[in-house]
Amino acid sequence: MQRNHAGTTRSDAAIAALREALGADVVSAPPEFGSRQVADWSGTPAVQPVALVRPRTTDEVATALRICHQHRQPVVTQGGMTGHAGGACVLNDEIALSLERMNGVVEIDPVSATMTVLAGTPLQVVQEAADQAGFMFALDLGARGSCTIGGNISTNAGGNRVIRYGMMRDQVLDVEAVLADGSVIGGERKMIKNNTGYDLRNLLAGSEGTLAVITRAVLRLRAKPRAVSTAWCGMPGYEAVTTLLGRAQERLPAGVSAFEVMWPSYCNFIRARMPELRVPLAGDHAYYVLLESCGADPERQAAAFEEFLADMLEAGVIADAAIAQSESDAAAFWAIRDAPGEYPRLIPGRISFDISFAVAQAGEAAQRCDERLRARWPQATILVYGHLGDGNLHVVVQEPGWTAETIGEVQRVVYELTAEMSGSVSAEHGIGEEKLKVLPLSRSPAELAAMKAIKLALDPYNLLNPGKVIAA
Ligand code: LAC
Ligand code: ZN
Repeated sequence: MQRNHAGTTRSDAAIAALREALGADVVSAPPEFGSRQVADWSGTPAVQPVALVRPRTTDEVATALRICHQHRQPVVTQGGMTGHAGGACVLNDEIALSLERMNGVVEIDPVSATMTVLAGTPLQVVQEAADQAGFMFALDLGARGSCTIGGNISTNAGGNRVIRYGMMRDQVLDVEAVLADGSVIGGERKMIKNNTGYDLRNLLAGSEGTLAVITRAVLRLRAKPRAVSTAWCGMPGYEAVTTLLGRAQERLPAGVSAFEVMWPSYCNFIRARMPELRVPLAGDHAYYVLLESCGADPERQAAAFEEFLADMLEAGVIADAAIAQSESDAAAFWAIRDAPGEYPRLIPGRISFDISFAVAQAGEAAQRCDERLRARWPQATILVYGHLGDGNLHVVVQEPGWTAETIGEVQRVVYELTAEMSGSVSAEHGIGEEKLKVLPLSRSPAELAAMKAIKLALDPYNLLNPGKVIAA
């Protein structure tokens, strides 16, 4: 905290200027928002912000950032606080800028298949608005009810349908954003093709609030699937898993919209700890695949899906399979995959990893990871599952009573293996504060220097989400 001769802090002057320009309704002090959630879902230690700014318009965001720039006041932008990397956590004497009041659908353009929304709009509201308009919004993830579009873009969120539709950046045609000095860029363009130099939209997607504050976006809508086929498959080995993935992409008329893989450790844990969920197949298998295919022709698609699975069973690629006969069957399959929503209750103090590898190597990576962890911590709970169609593994490790030092050692084991196998230390959750130190395992010195040059060019005083993504 910087204190001047009069005993006031840098923040006091910035907050006074913000209050004067935007009013006490927009700019509130800690006693006025005392019980507000400060941390995200990562468990990163967070502190209360020195003030909370809740603008109603892009102009107000621009005014806020201009004032913070003048006073060299750091700002952390916050959405639904559901991140897994500490990206939205306040770490020092920073102002929290919440987009919660900038919430709503501005326009749906059915001919261009776009939806323009304010950044604070929850993902689920966007999904429902798209559905009502006869479209689909493709991004989907467990935190849909709380996370916001601005947060989804700034973290380049992933989720369950990436294999078919891509990450969040692929759902965005343009973003309106306020830069560190208060200038406003973008936000109107609805076309898919726009090859006019550096792609600022894609630069901001995944920048986690370190380059600008995203205030609104033009989203891309997709054709609404009229038929969804879902199966739960028991697999005999990893080669069978990758074979099924390849064949499904080749042969299913509607393609593959989800390919989620769960290791027995995960399914057995769910069976034991969440008996209210019904794991579809009775027997034990080496891997379990949740396969989904979304298309337009219910009858033909269902027949093709069944025939494909029968062929795979006959060929020995699949050991056993259950096909969802209803929406509620499909929801029951997905409930098993969505069980991590219950982790805070079931596995307190867990260490979570979000790593990725080439699909061909992900099986071996998971096995080596399990072996190395088991060799040192034989009693630990180790769960492996993930969006395997994208090479993305989630690994969860826990043992009651572990010290910070042990947690650090567990992280070292997993991240060293990730680097050894040319994987990524963050597949979809981002870097935030949590993975800052391990980023060099996945990015070269030249890449890190390029990122830093971009950061300094756009935010020379390091005011936007300092201490996240790259070290200043
Ligand atoms: C999941 C989240 C945690 O896939 O990324 O369960
Ligand atoms: Zn995930």
